[in-house]
Amino acid sequence: MKFKTRPKKRSRLEGHAKTPHKMGQKIRIKSTEDLAVMRENGILVARALRHLASLVRPGVTTMDLDREGEQFLRDHGATPSFLGYGGYPASVCAAHNEVVVHGIPNRVPLKEGDIIGIDIGAFRNGLHADSAITVPVGDISPATRELLTVTEESLWQGIAKARAGNHVGDISHAIQSYVEERGYSVVQELVGHGVGFNLHEDPQVPNFGEPGDGVRLRPGMTLAIEPMINQGTREVQVLPDKWTIVTLDGRFSAHFEHTVAITDGEPKIITLLPPDD
Ligand code: MF3
Ligand code: CO
Repeated sequence: MKFKTRPKKRSRLEGHAKTPHKMGQKIRIKSTEDLAVMRENGILVARALRHLASLVRPGVTTMDLDREGEQFLRDHGATPSFLGYGGYPASVCAAHNEVVVHGIPNRVPLKEGDIIGIDIGAFRNGLHADSAITVPVGDISPATRELLTVTEESLWQGIAKARAGNHVGDISHAIQSYVEERGYSVVQELVGHGVGFNLHEDPQVPNFGEPGDGVRLRPGMTLAIEPMINQGTREVQVLPDKWTIVTLDGRFSAHFEHTVAITDGEPKIITLLPPDD
């Protein structure tokens, strides 16, 4: 797998003009203090996602979620990482049904049986945290439920490989093999990323690849790991709004994301809700 020559992080689909990220920069290692700030921001993101998930029901719109998400961050002293990033016009990315990622919030009401991806980032004290979940709208079919559980579990499979001495490709391969063994497909035009001082930093974190590929993981690296998994074909297209990525076949896609820090031991999940919360 030649993932070094693969499309950049938030992809060729996005075009360079709107992506401030510069490739070839050095990977930025975070200090203990940086990680403490990122953890605070990550907890805020986790609470924002919990709040937004609690609002999801038939009739709610993604504009409602965007407004609530932005307010939640600002009420807690953070700013939305996505608003204005490369010209992105909202605080939340809302991925409804066949939308893979980067859906711009709109006035379309959610309906029973749908799924909605909610992706949000918080910036505070110079550092970002980035996380996403996909949640059911009311009752969903068993097949749709399985898409969600497989996608979420693939994220955990990837996180388990986020250890010093491993390589990025170990994460990538764990996700891809888990997903493909279960008959789902991995979107390849978009990838996870380093995160911290910027929303998007090196290295890219593809959801496909071979063990041992890519950079070696070191303590203090912080990665946004974010599988984007389709029920049908892995192929995607970008809508005329130049942001919204949808599946080519119109079948559903799911997305889960955590910001994770590499340590001397276990991966530290920056955007995990504290157990006593
Ligand atoms: N979690 C997504 C990402 O990491 C959301 C970015 S939306 C953008 O790329 F507008 F900020 F690009
Ligand atoms: Co991300």
